[in-house]
This record gives sequence, C-alpha cells and structure tokens, in this order.
Amino acid sequence: MKVAIGSDHAGFPLKENLKDYIATLGHDVEDVGTFSAELSVDYPDWSEKVTTRVVAGKADKGVLICGTGIGMSIAANKVPGIYAALCANEYTARMSRLHNNSNVLVLGGRVTGLDLAREITRIWFSTDAEEGRHLARRQKIIAAEATNAKKAATLPRGRVVVLEHPLIQHKLSIVRDKNTSVKDFRDLVQEIAGLMVYEISRNLPLTEIEVETPLCTTKAFSLMGKKLAVVPVLRAGLGMVEGILRLIPNAKVGHIGLYRNPETLQPVDYYCKLPNDIGERDIFVLDPMLATGGSASASIAHIKRSGGRRISLVSLIAAPEGVQKVAADHPEVDIFTAGLDRHLNDHGYIVPGLGDAGDRLFGTK
Ligand code: RB5
Repeated sequence: MKVAIGSDHAGFPLKENLKDYIATLGHDVEDVGTFSAELSVDYPDWSEKVTTRVVAGKADKGVLICGTGIGMSIAANKVPGIYAALCANEYTARMSRLHNNSNVLVLGGRVTGLDLAREITRIWFSTDAEEGRHLARRQKIIAAEATNAKKAATLPRGRVVVLEHPLIQHKLSIVRDKNTSVKDFRDLVQEIAGLMVYEISRNLPLTEIEVETPLCTTKAFSLMGKKLAVVPVLRAGLGMVEGILRLIPNAKVGHIGLYRNPETLQPVDYYCKLPNDIGERDIFVLDPMLATGGSASASIAHIKRSGGRRISLVSLIAAPEGVQKVAADHPEVDIFTAGLDRHLNDHGYIVPGLGDAGDRLFGTK
C-alpha cells in the first residue's frame, strides 16, 4: 500500500523512525516532510500535504505526527474524506480501524514512546474495517460530510438524503443479491423507486382547495402546479420510471443518454429529449447507480443548459465519490439514495453495490 507520512518539528524524530518501520511492513512510504526537528513549522501545513495525497488517491493511507497528535488530528479531520484517528495505545489503534475505518493514523511524538508507537502502527496497518453496524455508522458520517460540503457552498443548498425506510432497505437487499432473477430485479427496482417518491416529493408545494364530500364542504389540499418531470439517464434509469409514474402519473418524461469517450473518459451526451417547459418543472433525474458521478453530473449540467432549474437526483445506490462529485458540481441539487455504499473499485463499480444495474435490468449479461 502507498503511505504518505508527515510531521511537524515536534513529530520529526518519531517520523524518521516510523517511516523506515512502515517500509519494513511492506508499504511504499512517501515522506512529505518536515525535514528537521530544529526549524519550527506549523502542523496544519503538513497535515495538508498528507491529506491531499490521501483524498486524491495518491496515497492509500496517511500517517501524521506532531507533539501531542491533537493539532494534526484536528487539522486532518477538517478535510472531507479524511478519517484521522489519534491513537495512544494498541486498543485505540485496533478499534480505529475495525470500527471507524480510519485512513490517517495520528501519533503524538512527545507523548508516545518509540516501541509503543511501532506497535500501534503495526496493528493499525494490519487491521481491516468491520462492516455491519459499524459500516452503517460510518455511512452516517459520510452522509453528514456530503451535506456539510453542500452547506458550505455559496449556491443554494441541496441535501443528501439516505432513505432508511425498512421496506426500501428490505427490497434493496434483494436487488443486491446476485441470485435475484432479472424479472424480480426489474420489479423490485420499480417498487423501490415508487417508495422513494414519498420522500423525494415531500417538499412539493400544496395549495388549499375546497372539496365537497358527501356530507359537507371542506378545505383540503392539492399539489400546486403539478408540474413535474422525470428524466432517466439511459439506460439503467429507465428501470425506475414506471415505479415513479405510478404515483405521479402526470409527470412528463424526458430522456438523456450519455456514453464515456474512451480517450478523454469524459461523458458525452448522444441523446436528449426534454419536455419543452422543462424550466417550469420540478425535475427528478433518475440514475440508479451514482458511481463516479460523471454521467449524473453531466446530465444535470445538460438539463440546466436546457433551462431546467429545480433538479433532484434520485439513485438506488450511491458511492461517496459520486455524491461528492455531484455535490461539488451542483451544490443546489438534492441527492436521494436508498443506499450509501463504501467506495468504488478499480473498475468504477460501487462496492458492495449490486453490479451493473443496466445489465441486471435488461438481462444483457
Ligand atoms: C508544537 O510545539 C506543538 O504544538 C504541535 O506539535 C502539536 O502538539 C500541536 O497539537
């Protein structure tokens, strides 16, 4: 694994020792500095060097050392995507990997002896994260992180909403299962999309009306305007359309198709047909797998260029990378997902995910 290690002057002696030790554990270590114990430097600068490498994927893990470890951990944890753990003993080192999936180990060079620091480091690098309830808790941190990133943006803010309704989660488990048939997969994706309507339409404005019941006249509520559009991103997005239209049958349906240019790897739209009055509609972009976020972000950008203004993105499963990409490119867009997964693998698949949603919907594999 690639490891970036950095320290301030107070952590320098321990860094010098640990970087060689980490290399003996079989890792490829990049020392980003500082390079002296004498010259007083500011720990946030070294935190930034290490965390930038981790977030960019240039390092798989980071190690930061200052005098107490406290300043480094505070600085590192300001960075979205960094989960820095200040470890003072073997137990916290193990737990910070098992439960918290920390990706930066922080040590206090003036408070932790060399032998203990080595043992903490050995345990930290050799312990894998647990799933189950710990994964669910970590996902809450990731969701909060994405929401906070959007809040910090200057444009109007969208939300990142993970739909935790038991029915949705139950059905999502079945579609994840590789043994689920194409027919069941197709039916369940539509059912989940239908259940998601309750949340994605929660803020639609209502207007007060009068209704005559068989007994009397009463005040009631009706959707104001009722101008909605669903825009599936071809082809997998088609699998969600019917489920949504069952509950909002008057919505207009647009379509947008993209492919990835094999040379530039950038999404290129090859088809787009949207309702003429798209600018007046609340738009739900449907993309079941929010993986890198490239096609979702490009679709939203295209819809905006066509006049679309009030846009939400609806996915079955999202990766943190995709959420962050869309949140960064379109901070005002609400992102709804039934599952926020762990990460993308080297082939751009969401892990654990459900495989290729298009293939599973249409039986093409
Ligand atoms: C440097 O003197 C010291 O403040 C720094 O290394 C660190 O302990 C801060 O949290």
